Amino acid sequence: MNILIFGGTSGIGRALVEQYAKAGHQVIFTGRREEKLVEISRHLGPSVLGIRHDIRQTELTPGILQQAEAKFGPIDLIIVNAGIGKFNYDLDWDICLSVLKTNVLGVTRALLAGYNYFRQQGQGHLVNVSSVASLIGGAPNPSYNASKAYQANFMEALWIKAHKSRKNKIAVTDIRPGFVDTKLAQGAKFWKADVQTAAQQIRQAIAKKKKIAYITRRWAVVAMLLKHLPSFVLKKM
Ligand SMILES: NC(=O)c1ccc[n+]([C@@H]2O[C@H](COP(=O)([O-])OP(=O)(O)OC[C@H]3O[C@@H](n4cnc5c(N)ncnc54)[C@H](OP(=O)(O)O)[C@@H]3O)[C@@H](O)[C@H]2O)c1
Repeated sequence: MNILIFGGTSGIGRALVEQYAKAGHQVIFTGRREEKLVEISRHLGPSVLGIRHDIRQTELTPGILQQAEAKFGPIDLIIVNAGIGKFNYDLDWDICLSVLKTNVLGVTRALLAGYNYFRQQGQGHLVNVSSVASLIGGAPNPSYNASKAYQANFMEALWIKAHKSRKNKIAVTDIRPGFVDTKLAQGAKFWKADVQTAAQQIRQAIAKKKKIAYITRRWAVVAMLLKHLPSFVLKKM
């Protein structure tokens, strides 16, 4: 398979790049940190290429798909994983804005570019990494949880659209991790999966073309509970 991963320089994205490359696939991945792009590409060899791209520079996003195709040929799988989450106890506007620019505007541009690419091609698999946080308001960082709720909703719309189309064979998967042991989840204390296990379960969910997958799987139980949390419990969170 030819795979494009937005946000593959660390954490979950990096583990996906490594695992897919080791399984024999050709992988293009992006990120802002040049040194990580070079280090990972060198380490994994000629079937992997890192391209510098800031997902907030939405005008450049379609060009990344063109570069990926020029390198390895038609893309089969696009994973939009790039994301940030910062605590924002004081409701600072700049923090809120940076989360929205990345997780909402940047991610939307990548998802639209990916979906339209597959529509033209007639097939492909589009994946986004949202979060269990999409299911509940988050007082420590309201814009993060809200941005993930937006992503989950957007992915459902694309999933419906894909299923309505008779012409195209496009699969759409929303990956919803709980806590995974990365810089982004610093401070989280329970049920924290290591990145390799998370990436493995994400790959399994993608192979099964699932609509939604909770990572690790036991977070599906938490997700069910979160949907029905009474207000008095919410107030304590
Ligand atoms: N860790 C968790 O517990 C957890 C839980 C639920 C959901 N998630 C989601 O999983 C995804 C990956 O997060 P992670 O935990 O693996 O964190 P991470 O290690 O901080 O990785 C984030 C990735 O996104 C990229 N990225 C961030 N801003 C970007 C930008 N403006 N342009 C391009 N790339 C950008 C980073 O690359 P550069 O810094 O090189 O640009 C990096 O490759 C995120 O969408 C996150 O919301 C994580």
